[in-house]
Amino acid sequence: MPRYPDSPVFYRKLAKDFPKIVRGEGCRLFDEAGKSYLDACGGAFVANLGHGLGEIADAMAEQARKVAYVNGTAFTHEPAEALAAELAALNPKGLDKAYFLGSGSEAVEAALKFARQYFVETGKPKKHKVIARTPGYHGNTLLALSASAREHYKTYFREWLVDVPRIPAPYAYRCQCQGERPECPACSGSALLEAIHREGPETVAAFIAEPIGGSSTGGAVPRPDYFKRIREICDRYDVLFIADEVLTGCGRTGAWAAIEHFGVIPDLLVLGKGISGGYAPLSALCAPTRLIDPIAKSSGALMHAQTFSHHPVSCAAGLAAVRYIRREGLVARSAKMGEVLHRRLKKLLDLPNVGDIRGRGLLAGVEFVEDKATRRPFPRKLKMAETFTEAAQRRGLVVWPNVGQANGTDGDLIMLAPPFIVTEPEIGEIVQLVAAALEETMGSLKSATKSS
Ligand SMILES: Cc1ncc(COP(=O)(O)O)c(C=O)c1O
Repeated sequence: MPRYPDSPVFYRKLAKDFPKIVRGEGCRLFDEAGKSYLDACGGAFVANLGHGLGEIADAMAEQARKVAYVNGTAFTHEPAEALAAELAALNPKGLDKAYFLGSGSEAVEAALKFARQYFVETGKPKKHKVIARTPGYHGNTLLALSASAREHYKTYFREWLVDVPRIPAPYAYRCQCQGERPECPACSGSALLEAIHREGPETVAAFIAEPIGGSSTGGAVPRPDYFKRIREICDRYDVLFIADEVLTGCGRTGAWAAIEHFGVIPDLLVLGKGISGGYAPLSALCAPTRLIDPIAKSSGALMHAQTFSHHPVSCAAGLAAVRYIRREGLVARSAKMGEVLHRRLKKLLDLPNVGDIRGRGLLAGVEFVEDKATRRPFPRKLKMAETFTEAAQRRGLVVWPNVGQANGTDGDLIMLAPPFIVTEPEIGEIVQLVAAALEETMGSLKSATKSS
C-alpha cells in the first residue's frame, strides 16, 4: 500500500498506509486489492448522493467540453445561473443570491468578509468583531480557523490568528445543566447577549454557528427555541447571523437547511461539502438582496477575489447534484432513513463505553467515554477515536472521528453520515460494524495500557 515517503504524494498523514481506491458505487468504495468499504460518512459528509452517479459525471463532462473555465469578473454561464436559481428556491426565504467558491473554508471566509464589508459600507465601520462558539468548527484558512474552536489545529499558527470572542455551544451531554435548565446561558442562547454586551454592541458584526453541531460536538442538537433567541438578540444589536451549513446543509439533517428545524432565517447561509455530492469542489455563500444592495450601490463588489470562484464545471456538478436531490426526493429520504439510523444506533447505548448518541436525519454522533456514570472521557494519549477509526476501516467501515470535544483536549467520538441512498440493510451493517470495531478497540486499548 502506498505510504510516505515511498510515494511522491505529500499525504495528509505521514505515518499511515493508504489503500488506493479505484471505484465507488452507491454507498461502497473498492480498493485496488478488491476490498470493499461501506462509506458511512460520505468521506467527510460530502458523498451525500453515493458514488458512481453517471448523470453527474456526464453533466460535468458536457460542461468541460463546452467551456471549462471563464473568469467570474468577465463572464457568467448557464450552470452558475441555473444553480443559483435552484438554491434560491430551496434556501430559507430571502437567501436568493449565491456566490460560488470551492471549499467550505473559502465560503466561510467570504461570509465573514461580507459581514465586515457590509457594515463599513453602511456607515458602521466600528463593527468588525465576530462571535463564535466552543466547540465549533468553521474551516482551516486563517480567518475561518480563528472562528473555529479546534485548538489542536491552531497549535503552530496562533500568532497569525485574529481574536474571536466565544460563547459555549449548546452541548447538553457536556453542559453542567445536561440540557435540563431552559435558562442555562449556553443551552438557551442567552450567552450571546452577555458576549455582545461584553464586547460592545457597536463593535460586533457577526455571529457564526452550525445550526446542528457537526463533528465538533458530535451532532449536538440545540433546544427548539435556541435559534429564535439567537435571532432576537442579533436583530436587537444589528449583528448578522451566519448559519454555517457546510456540513449540515443540502439535506443532511432531513431538511434542506438544518436551520429550518428551528423556524428561523439566518442573514447569511454557507453551503459546501454535499452541495455537489463530492463530484467537484464547490461551496456557496448565500445572501439576501437586501444585504447585497448596499455593497452594489457603494464599492460594487464583495472584496473576495478567487480565480476559481463561479467555476463552470463545479457549478455544473452542483446543478446536476441539486437537481438529482430534488428529483429523487432525497431530503425526505434523509429524514426517513435518519429515523431508522437513530433507532438502530440506540441499541449501542447498552455498550459500556458508548456515552451518548445524538444528531438528526442522516447525521449521527456516537460519543465514547471511559466511564459512563461520570461521563469521563478517555485520556487523549490513548487515541481512542483514532484507534477505533483504524479498526473500523480494517473491517471495511469508513467513519469520521473527532477528538477533544470534552474539554479541548480529551474526548472521542465518531460521526456517521451515510449517503442519502443508504438502505436499511446497510444501516444494520453499519451498526453491527461499529459494535465490532468498538470491541476490538477496547481490547487493544486494554492490552496497550497493560503493557505500558
Ligand atoms: C461546519 C463546517 N464549516 C466549514 C468547514 C470547512 O470546510 P472545508 O473543509 O471544505 O474547507 C467544515 C469542514 O469540515 C465544516 O464542518
